[in-house]
Amino acid sequence: IIFNEGNPGRTELSVGTLGTPKSIPVVGLSYEDAVALLDQVEAGPVSVNVSTEVETDPNRTTWNVIANLNAKDLKKVKNKDQVVVVGAHLDSVTAGPGINDNGSGTAGILAIAQEMADLKLTKKLSRPVRFAFWGAEEANLLGSEHYVASLTDQQRSKIYANLNFDMIGSPNYVRFVYDGDGSNGGPVGPPGSDVIETVFTDYFESQGLASEPTDFDGRSDYGPFIAAGIPAGGLFSGAEGVKTPEQAAIYGGTAGEWYDPCYHQACDDITNLSVKSLNELGDAAAHATLTLTKSRSGLFP
Ligand code: PHE
Ligand code: ZN
Ligand code: ZN
Ligand code: ZN
Repeated sequence: IIFNEGNPGRTELSVGTLGTPKSIPVVGLSYEDAVALLDQVEAGPVSVNVSTEVETDPNRTTWNVIANLNAKDLKKVKNKDQVVVVGAHLDSVTAGPGINDNGSGTAGILAIAQEMADLKLTKKLSRPVRFAFWGAEEANLLGSEHYVASLTDQQRSKIYANLNFDMIGSPNYVRFVYDGDGSNGGPVGPPGSDVIETVFTDYFESQGLASEPTDFDGRSDYGPFIAAGIPAGGLFSGAEGVKTPEQAAIYGGTAGEWYDPCYHQACDDITNLSVKSLNELGDAAAHATLTLTKSRSGLFP
């Protein structure tokens, strides 16, 4: 199930499932309709066609959705002043429903949150976890900028790290890890970003999966965090870049084509996903979230 803020306007939620034995058209989904629909989705395999109203008012209001550890579980956390913010942007461009960009990342971190609760992992953390579903990333990172700017110096100093997941199910995917140490010749992140990069690359290596660095250039919601000196990292399965023959030999897929041929287009719909990518990068995201929130020793210099 993929939640996405979708296009701005009255309809703010789109829902889809994989597998298509049954189809229900939905227009103008209210919160109540969405909940009823979720009950149906849970009852059996259905697919949901979503149509949204597009509203282009530049002054419209939008929101971040922030989920914190509950007070009871927080009590048991040793390092209360070392919050790990795990984020993904909830909005899409108005051109399309934004299922890979960024239903994939938001569904991924929502699944991690649900699993951490179901498996009672939230009761055994060394650091607090905070899940952030950012608004208005596509309008120049407005949601994450606002969040970081709205914190007091003291609150900001209590953010230990930021993990970001923006596009993790690209159809022609590569396992890109944000290049926190600048080893690929690009910008270097704040100290600790190199350690986070290693958490991801070591994980992929342990699974026998190839990965490679991608520029840590601030093109997503980790940007405001690194600008504030907070260590960050994350994963990316590729957007408008062209897959090289070398990458096709390693990861499969099609050389000469975009990693996501529907990037920022109407066809970024429920069919525009590699479930394999979503699984592999989603598991790596869960691993990094648990490594940062559970490890008892300090991770950063
Ligand atoms: N932030 C870009 C978008 O939402 C996607 C992107 C993510 C590009 C990470 C590069 C690195 O369209
Ligand atoms: Zn985008
Ligand atoms: Zn994005
Ligand atoms: Zn690197």
